[in-house]
Parts: sequence; C-alpha cells; structure tokens
Amino acid sequence: MANQLLEVKSVDVFYGDVQALWEVSIQVEEGTIVALVGANGAGKTTLLKTISGINSAARGEILFSGEHLENLKPQNVVDRGIMHVPEGRRLFANLTVLENLRLGAYVPRARPFFAESLERSFTLFPVLQTRKNQKAGSLSGGEQQMLAIARALMGRPKLLMLDEPSLGLSPIFVKTIFELISTLNEQKATILLVEQNINQALKIAHQAYVLKTGKIVMSGAGNELLADEEIRKAYIGERVGRRQR
Ligand SMILES: Nc1ncnc2c1ncn2[C@@H]1O[C@H](COP(=O)(O)OP(=O)(O)OP(=O)(O)O)[C@@H](O)[C@H]1O
Ligand SMILES: [Mg+2]
Repeated sequence: MANQLLEVKSVDVFYGDVQALWEVSIQVEEGTIVALVGANGAGKTTLLKTISGINSAARGEILFSGEHLENLKPQNVVDRGIMHVPEGRRLFANLTVLENLRLGAYVPRARPFFAESLERSFTLFPVLQTRKNQKAGSLSGGEQQMLAIARALMGRPKLLMLDEPSLGLSPIFVKTIFELISTLNEQKATILLVEQNINQALKIAHQAYVLKTGKIVMSGAGNELLADEEIRKAYIGERVGRRQR
C-alpha cells in the first residue's frame, strides 16, 4: 500500500456557527505533490490552517505518519515537520533576509542543520544570497515568495504546505515558482499545494482534490483532472479554449 504521510479523515470545521469544511478527507502520499484547488472561499486556506493546528477540527481525524495531529498546538505541529507557507507570505519585513532564514531554522529538529540548510537555500535561490543583508520588506513580491519558501525549507519540513505561492506574481516569477516546486519534489519533498492557478497546479500534481463550498467534490491524478471537461469549464475557463484555437 502507498505510504500516506498525511491523512485527513472526515474533518468538519466551523467558524462560530458557520460550517466551513464538511467531512473533508484527503491523503498525501510521501514524495508526491498534492494540489488542492477550488474557487475563492471554498475552504482551501481553512484546511491548511486546520492541518497546522491554527483552526481546530470539530470532528474527524488528522494523521501524520500515523500520529494524531488534531488537538495539537500549531508549534507542536511545526515541531513534527509540517511547514506552512501562508497566504500573503508573512515575512518579518524589518528583519534581513538572513535573519528571516535563521528564524526558519529555529525549530529544534532543524537547528543542527542550519549551515547545510542555508547553503541549500542559497543554491536554490541565488538571489537571496545576493540580498542576504537586505531587509525582507525591500524585496520584490517574487523575491519575497522565494524567501517565504526558503524560510520554510530551513525548518527541514517533512511536509511543505504552500498557500497560493504564485498569487500576485508576474508571469516570469509564476514560472519560476512552479519550476521550483517541481525541483523540490524531485529532491524528495512532499508538497501540499493550494493554488488558484489551477492549470499549472494540475500539471505538476500527482494527485489533486477539488474543494467546493467546503466539500471535496472531485479527486484524481493531476493530469486526469486537467483533462476533465467539467473542471476545464468550471475552473480553467474559456480562456484556455480560446488560446488553443
Ligand atoms: N477567520 C474566519 N472567520 C470566519 N469565517 C471565515 C474565517 N476565515 C475564513 N472564513 C470563511 O470560511 C470560508 C472558507 O474560507 P477560506 O479562506 O478557507 O477559503 P479559500 O478557499 O482559501 O479562499 P481564497 O481562494 O479566497 O483564499 C469562507 O466562506 C470564508 O468567508
Ligand atoms: Mg485562501
């Protein structure tokens, strides 16, 4: 049987009285890219936050390497090797690139590998080395996204969760980010990717789930969903069709 690193089973999540997730189940196999796609407000961020321990599940189970995560505090989830790059990046704008990276390696399991992780970050993102003493807030949007991902990698994740990494970036940076995600995966990283850029996300995903108003309505291999007529109509839109003609 496939080695499932993460298993979310029938999770319900509420904001006050309002239910945001309904019996959501997903599986992330070790060494794969899993995409979570869906329209604005579908509950994608809510699911990542629930895995991270920021939101709590009212019902259901979250298993990471077989260990229950539900009811753990966010810090304890991080300590187990789940790194979440949130929507909007949340860097420390007044700290330098290097200081941000140092904070990423703060978790006990990552601290001993600081020098090695830093070298890897600079190899993956040479621009961060060039700008290592610059304030994070002075970087371009694309550079900030790279720093946010590099900071998460400094924590030596077993699972990397990326919430809309390509949002607001210029086309060239979007391409760079998707190439990077593929490269990380070739280097054995397991990635749970939330994206609005559904076309690109499905292209690189081994497995994908479609979330609609808090429910998983479809799942399958990335290329299967990419070829699905309904998905193309609902989420990829006519633009793709026009371009192909
Ligand atoms: N802190 C909160 N309090 C109350 N409701 C919330 C909160 N955060 C999200 N919601 C609601 O939960 C639902 C799911 O939101 P969520 O942010 O998870 O969607 P999303 O799929 O990430 O959307 P987007 O693509 O716009 O980022 C939405 O109806 C949203 O209004
Ligand atoms: Mg979101």
